[in-house]
Amino acid sequence: MTQKALFIALEGGDAAGTTTHSHLLKGFLESKGFKVYLTQEPSQSKIGILIREFLKNKEIPPTTDALLFAADRDLHYKNEIKNKLEEGYIVISDRYIESSIVYQSVQSDKITVDWVKEINKFVGLPDITMILDINPKIALARKEAEDLEKFEDSSFLAKVRNLYLTRAKEENYHIISSDDIIEIVQENIQKIVIEKIKNLS
Ligand code: TMP
Repeated sequence: MTQKALFIALEGGDAAGTTTHSHLLKGFLESKGFKVYLTQEPSQSKIGILIREFLKNKEIPPTTDALLFAADRDLHYKNEIKNKLEEGYIVISDRYIESSIVYQSVQSDKITVDWVKEINKFVGLPDITMILDINPKIALARKEAEDLEKFEDSSFLAKVRNLYLTRAKEENYHIISSDDIIEIVQENIQKIVIEKIKNLS
């Protein structure tokens, strides 16, 4: 069977486990013989590196964040993700457009979901978006206090969680509880992906 390309995005509030589960999913799919390309946002580009620096800086306006995340994604999709999909890879992105829709619109009343969609409209969309849902109090308990970035406080993360859940209902995204143990969460993710792959062939 020739492998068909598939674009998967893992999303969720801070410490929901998108990075852990992206790596585990990659290992699982490779063990089944699939070619997998794992990537993340902010990306490794110069824009991505700048964003990582700005994540520690509360003086950066939310609109600047939104525009930088959109620019980073534009470059990331066109120079990296699109090419890998054309080569037939399963691409897993640890965070993608929903992170911008959710985090940037929660950051400021002036930033609407529609505006974030507009500035991100030139990139391709994932075939599967999964939201790892976590209680913000559990999420923050998993983090070291000194490592916290500007988005990591519990009332902000509660808003992030609510908007992710609203978006999931609107767009029919998969919601996976990340309060469970890692093995169970990963198994639930794998089931969704395998089902999708079966439907492709
Ligand atoms: P990480 O903790 O998963 O590495 O992500 C970095 C932070 O950046 C996380 O708090 C979510 C935030 N973020 C946005 O605000 N907008 C975006 O578009 C992306 C990709 C991440």
